[in-house]
Amino acid sequence: MLVIALKKHVVLYKKLSNALMQRLHAHAHVTLIERLDAQGLEQLRAALPQAHGLLGASLKLDAQLLDLAPQLEAIASVSVGIDNYDLEYLNARKILLTHTPDVLTETTADTGFALILASARRVVELAIRVRNGQWQKNIGPEHFGTDVHGKTLGIIGMGRIGEALAQRGHFGFGMPVIYHSHSPKPAVEARFDAQYRSLEQLLQEADFICLTLPLTAETEGLIGREQFALMRPESIFINISRGKVVDEAALIHALQNGLIRAAGLDVFEREPLDTASPLLTLDNVVATPHIGSATIETREAMARCAVDNLLAALAGERPPNLVGAFHQSKTEMHGLKEIS
Ligand code: DGY
Repeated sequence: MLVIALKKHVVLYKKLSNALMQRLHAHAHVTLIERLDAQGLEQLRAALPQAHGLLGASLKLDAQLLDLAPQLEAIASVSVGIDNYDLEYLNARKILLTHTPDVLTETTADTGFALILASARRVVELAIRVRNGQWQKNIGPEHFGTDVHGKTLGIIGMGRIGEALAQRGHFGFGMPVIYHSHSPKPAVEARFDAQYRSLEQLLQEADFICLTLPLTAETEGLIGREQFALMRPESIFINISRGKVVDEAALIHALQNGLIRAAGLDVFEREPLDTASPLLTLDNVVATPHIGSATIETREAMARCAVDNLLAALAGERPPNLVGAFHQSKTEMHGLKEIS
C-alpha cells in the first residue's frame, strides 16, 4: 500500500481522467495546468517552486524551468520517449525520471502498420480524390498502389515497438523481416525468422524502412542524404520514432526526386508540422499528427502508469518504470525501498 507521510505537491501539465485525478488528490496536493499555452507556462513557472512531483508530456523540461523547482523529487513523463529531459541535469539534481513503456507498444505498432498500409496503398491520397468528387470512372494504373504482403520489412531499432511491428509483418502479412539495432537479437530472429543487417544493407534491401528508435545524441540525424541515396526508388519510408532522427530536408529531397516511392510520417523535426512544409504538398506523403499511442485506451493506460510511477516515487518506493540509466544509482542515492 502506498503511504506518503506528508501530502506532497504535484504539478500536472496534462489533464487526467476523473478517476486518476481522484487518486492523485487522495495522496497529494495537486495543481493542474490545463493547457501549455503562454498563460499555462506562466502558471507552471509559478507552481514549480512548490512542486515535489511533475506529471505530463510534450514539454521540454530544461534547466531554466527546473531550476525554479528546488524541491523537485520526481518527474513522471506520460510517454515512453525521454528526449524532453536532460538526464545529466536530473542525475546531478537527484531527480527521478519515470516513463510509460509497454502499455503503448501494441498501439504504436498499429500506427506503424497503418502508415505502411496507407502509404503503400495510397489510401489518403485516393480517399481525398473520392471526397473531392474526382471518382468519375474506375481508377487506372496511375493510381495503383503497391503490395504490402510478402514485401521485405526493414526495422531500424529492434526494441519493444520494433518487435511488435515485426510480429505484425511476419505473422499477419507474410513479410520477410530484416532489422538493424545495436546488436543482433537471437530471440527476435527465432520468433520472426528475422535477419540482422548493417544499416547500409537494410537501407538497400528493405521495401519498407521503418524507424522505431529513440532520439538520442547518437541517433539524431541518423538518416540523411547519404542514407536516402542508398534506398531503392520502390522503397517506402516510415517514421514512428522521432522526427529529429531524420534530416527532414534530405527526406523532402528524396521524395521530390524519386529516391523513394513514398513516406508515412507520424513525427517531424518540429511539431506541430509547419503548414507551409513541402511535405504537405506531396501526394506520396501520409502525415499524421504524432498519433503513435493516441487511442482512448492506451492514453488512459499511460496516464495510469505515470500516476503509479509518481506516487511510488513520492512515497519513497522504487517506481515501476524508472528510466533505465537511473535504476541502480538512483535507488541507492535515494535509499528507495525495493518493490517486491
Ligand atoms: C511517446 O510516448 O514517446 C510518444 O511518442 C508520445 O510522445
